[in-house]
Amino acid sequence: MRGSVTPSLESYYAKRAGEYERIYEKAERQDELAWLRGRVPELFAGRRVLEIACGTGYWTQFIAKPAAHVIATDINEPVLEIAREKPYPRGRVDFRKTDAFTLEGVPSGCNAAFAGFWWSHVRKSALGPWLALLTRHLAPGAIVGILDNRHVEGSSTPVTRRDAEGNTYQVRPLISGETHEVLKNFPAAAELAALLRPVAREATLEETQYYWLLHFTLK
Ligand SMILES: C[S@@+](CC[C@H](N)C(=O)[O-])C[C@H]1O[C@@H](n2cnc3c(N)ncnc32)[C@H](O)[C@@H]1O
Repeated sequence: MRGSVTPSLESYYAKRAGEYERIYEKAERQDELAWLRGRVPELFAGRRVLEIACGTGYWTQFIAKPAAHVIATDINEPVLEIAREKPYPRGRVDFRKTDAFTLEGVPSGCNAAFAGFWWSHVRKSALGPWLALLTRHLAPGAIVGILDNRHVEGSSTPVTRRDAEGNTYQVRPLISGETHEVLKNFPAAAELAALLRPVAREATLEETQYYWLLHFTLK
């Protein structure tokens, strides 16, 4: 799935590793984040969860509590290093450096998956193939949870460009002053529903002011 994300996405998040969790400190988002820290993990109680693009393990730490087991994957070693330092119930989490577009080396058969703030970075044309790949790695009837951002004027980084396929982009600064153009989509509910149709038998979209949480059961 070459070209599924912007070429710089991997290096942007490697450079941002140490400052990544500042995104969870935005004052206006605290109430919704507190709700999500309860809502997201309860989807995965007792499940064997494959986490895609786990980053610094922010959601891993909450999901690991009720889950039976978590395989937390990301392409970047610098974020995985931070994730490994968080406290988890003993033996509950395995971290793996893996590309979400190949899932190479990831054992099949988990009965749940979670991806936080990943979907929005994937080109629209790559989402269907990526969902099909994820589905092949999971057990039939698995639960999938996808958490991502809604665009909120004044709180979100402005969109600076839209390409021919309809993908949108933001220019994001790092503390160093370096800037990166990053693909970041804000999908409509109808787009999500159309993508799920081939793989899901039931789906629920929960929207707050700043976030959307989609959870569905695979066929
Ligand atoms: C927006 S962050 C989300 C991190 C975490 N899920 C969270 O919600 O806090 C996106 C993550 O995608 C990872 N990433 C970028 N390209 C990837 C790829 N091809 N495969 C797996 N992870 C990738 C980055 O390293 C980064 O940790």
